Amino acid sequence: MASYLPPAQEVWWKEPVGKDEIVWILIAFTWCMVLFFMMPYWHLYGKQNLSNEAYQTTPAKYQEKVQAMVDKYKVREEAGLPVVAPPPGSDVYLLGRLWQWYPILELQKNKSYRLHLSSADWQHGFSLQPVNINVQVLPGYESVITTTPDQAGEYTIVCNEYCGLGHHTMLGKIHVKE
Ligand code: CUA
Repeated sequence: MASYLPPAQEVWWKEPVGKDEIVWILIAFTWCMVLFFMMPYWHLYGKQNLSNEAYQTTPAKYQEKVQAMVDKYKVREEAGLPVVAPPPGSDVYLLGRLWQWYPILELQKNKSYRLHLSSADWQHGFSLQPVNINVQVLPGYESVITTTPDQAGEYTIVCNEYCGLGHHTMLGKIHVKE
């Protein structure tokens, strides 16, 4: 029967639901509930999602904060970028922009930092390798992650949101010292 014909039973929604259909609805509903409760469960026990804070900002305001930190705690230069070593426990600012991560951070192992992330222009993606931490980086939006690096070494930040021609060159660096 083609769908443009009126249904044979006008009040079709009052007909009893078939047994098969009820079973499938129950299965689907149960699975929905399982997946729904997996979200908080996985956050708490799977250690998968970050407990981050978010604030409104503007690219200009944020860049001011980044620059203030760079001016205060710059220790040297590396590949044309300042390397900044802020004191443990402090607020650390990282800026994503076309097409770089600014500045290079130097943190200390087993010390906590409040890492701020925002963008000067478009959407970027903060992907920290090799530990696979991912945060969306948006202009006008400041994310803060409290982090305690527990392994020394050199970490690479890869931009994982397509942001134009130089997207694939948008790499950054974080040093973690013993
Ligand atoms: Cu920034 Cu892709």
